[in-house]
Amino acid sequence: MKQTSFETKVVHYKTDQNQVTNSKSTPIYQTSAFTFKDLDHLESYYEGDSPYLYSRERNPNTEELAGTVAQLEGAPSGLATSSGMSAILAGILSVCKPGDHLVAAEDVYGGSHKLITKELETFGIDVTMVSFAQLEFVEDAVNEQTKLLYTESISNPFLRVENLTGLNQLAKKKGIKLMVDNTFATPYLLQPYAQGIDLVVHSGTKYIGGHSDVTCGVLVGEETLVEKARQKIVTLGANLSPFEAWLTQRGAKTLGLRMKQQSFNAGKVALALREHGSVRKVYYPENVSERGNGAIVTIELDRTVNIETFFKSLGWIKIAPTLAGVETTLSYPVRTSHRALSDVERENIGINDYVIRISIGIEDHEDIIAQLTSTIDQSLNV
Ligand SMILES: Cc1ncc(COP(=O)(O)O)c(C=O)c1O
Repeated sequence: MKQTSFETKVVHYKTDQNQVTNSKSTPIYQTSAFTFKDLDHLESYYEGDSPYLYSRERNPNTEELAGTVAQLEGAPSGLATSSGMSAILAGILSVCKPGDHLVAAEDVYGGSHKLITKELETFGIDVTMVSFAQLEFVEDAVNEQTKLLYTESISNPFLRVENLTGLNQLAKKKGIKLMVDNTFATPYLLQPYAQGIDLVVHSGTKYIGGHSDVTCGVLVGEETLVEKARQKIVTLGANLSPFEAWLTQRGAKTLGLRMKQQSFNAGKVALALREHGSVRKVYYPENVSERGNGAIVTIELDRTVNIETFFKSLGWIKIAPTLAGVETTLSYPVRTSHRALSDVERENIGINDYVIRISIGIEDHEDIIAQLTSTIDQSLNV
């Protein structure tokens, strides 16, 4: 019988890697290469009858992870890479060649912003970064050479929910591809590929892995594009190690449970912080999906809060330049994710010294709220 629900599919991705011993968990294929019993066997690899040759190209553990995420996104093909960044680069290079043009949302993750504005020109790719808040801005930025639109399904750190339907229609009308970073939403909340979007990318370092113990990326989409991206990864040597693929795959099994709890907690935290007199703004999206609205809450503190004291009074909550682990952590975009941007670029997207991004964990929501409110109360300038 076909598995239809996310909760079932996420733990039952069918892999043939366990056949030899019937092990319940997939073994870690910690090998750089695969051997062949004779030349006919070797030839069978090149004829497509034997799947593995060299782990930089394919490995059972990376394939299992890629297949799991592709299945959750409803995509026919997937590729696991060394990091979210390499997955983004490979996705872009699978579509754009020298002379082509890319239009990207100006509020994407700081590292992606740097990759697009500082590195793509070395590949001969022109870029325009614009606000994607209105479709006209995007349409105005498209020119004859434009081959790709790039954005995030939920932006960082202000959690703007992208108009994926509108962008997809625009991309189709113009005959260009659309690639979406679905890291913050995860396929638990949104499945952009299933909505018709060409390429979906994840920093698997975040919710898919979920335990802050790996760096990895996953790209999913239509087979020919994913295969082009694979060739880039193979040539650039940006493959994922078997052990990290295995860890990420293990983490992915609880993606549904974690996202359910973390989204629930985040909703409660957002509500509580909206009531706090020293929180000027709370950014937390609505109507992302019927399963929830994600697990990141961004706040702008009142100017009466002393930021140095705030970060010294966090109690059991740690400062971490990442998100999506099972523990609640805080990040400071000015000093971390958006450090590479100029002051003007940061101001343009609304990031200032009082903006804090909170990655909500799986703890009891009342404990999270108590710690955060006590931290703010202890940091008020008197
Ligand atoms: C939305 C988003 N995309 C991509 C990345 C890059 O991922 P990685 O750190 O795995 O290279 C990050 C990292 O924080 C991110 O937040």
